[in-house]
Amino acid sequence: MKKINSEQEKERQRLTKEILYWKEKRGALIIAHNYQIPAIQDLADFVGDSLELSQRAAATDARIIVFCGVHFMAESASILSPKKTVLIPDLDAGCSLAASIDATELRKWKKRYPDAVVVSYVNTSAEVKAESDYCCTSTNAVKIVNSIPGNRQILFVPDMFLGDYVAKTTGRKNMIIYPGECHVHARVRPSDITDKMDQHPAAEFLIHPECGCVSSCMHYLASGDIPANKTRILSTGGMIKHARKSPSKEFVVATETGILYRLKKENPQKSFIALRDDMVCRFMKMITLPKLLNSLKNLEFEVKVPKEIADRARIPIERMLKLSK
Ligand code: 13P
Ligand code: SF4
Repeated sequence: MKKINSEQEKERQRLTKEILYWKEKRGALIIAHNYQIPAIQDLADFVGDSLELSQRAAATDARIIVFCGVHFMAESASILSPKKTVLIPDLDAGCSLAASIDATELRKWKKRYPDAVVVSYVNTSAEVKAESDYCCTSTNAVKIVNSIPGNRQILFVPDMFLGDYVAKTTGRKNMIIYPGECHVHARVRPSDITDKMDQHPAAEFLIHPECGCVSSCMHYLASGDIPANKTRILSTGGMIKHARKSPSKEFVVATETGILYRLKKENPQKSFIALRDDMVCRFMKMITLPKLLNSLKNLEFEVKVPKEIADRARIPIERMLKLSK
């Protein structure tokens, strides 16, 4: 077993060395989402949540951006920097949530609610963004919705758990919420939270707003059935920041398990436990070292959004970035 591990480690070091060589040669920037595998997080120039990655992609001078994440994230980078080459190491790295609505379906919903302002979660295709008024991420969804006059109806797509969380937090009664969900987060049940609370009474709970338990958790929080000072509903970037500053020593984390690596690496004296070990996004895990190396060597696979779509999709993304400064 030891022998296999040391051989794997050698292979990882060899690939890392080659990737860094090609990265230098290409003048590329490697950015990675918080859910990426440890080897990718370790060699990325920047690791972050959806909002931080789009801000970083918009600000870089690098001519080539290699996006270690999923397809909609690389599309957003390409929309923001149309003159740059944006690469994704595997074109099949999609997102079940983004796939839950397409532009034709959104146009149907817009016809049903012609006066509504469309707010799309960033986990959507470029075509859906092109049909939207605002984008948002889990970091800024409440802020974006609060920036829209209270008398305007809002059509929120596509995550129903995030939509419900935003409606409850803002107190907004005029939000139409599309019934989409992420297969990784939707499976979380309120009993997952209460069972783990019994097992780890001193732990703080960090819960992503895409989780299927979010509405019930908010209800339990309001009724005092779960303690408000120990339960936080946060984006992945919010979890990273909170874990750094919190005096707690133990955290239960309800999101994709890839984030545990960064949480542990940055806070070696604290302990982080997955709410469920099966919260694994197979799309995020499609990005591997050999595929990243191929991407840099052969400039594959370029993510390019047609100009007509990109020009329309840029408007809601830029509105979001402006409100998030
Ligand atoms: P964050 O913006 O919180 O990183 O979330 C992205 C995502 O895909 C969650 O599943
Ligand atoms: Fe999409 Fe869910 Fe994977 Fe996030 S965890 S990228 S929402 S499928």
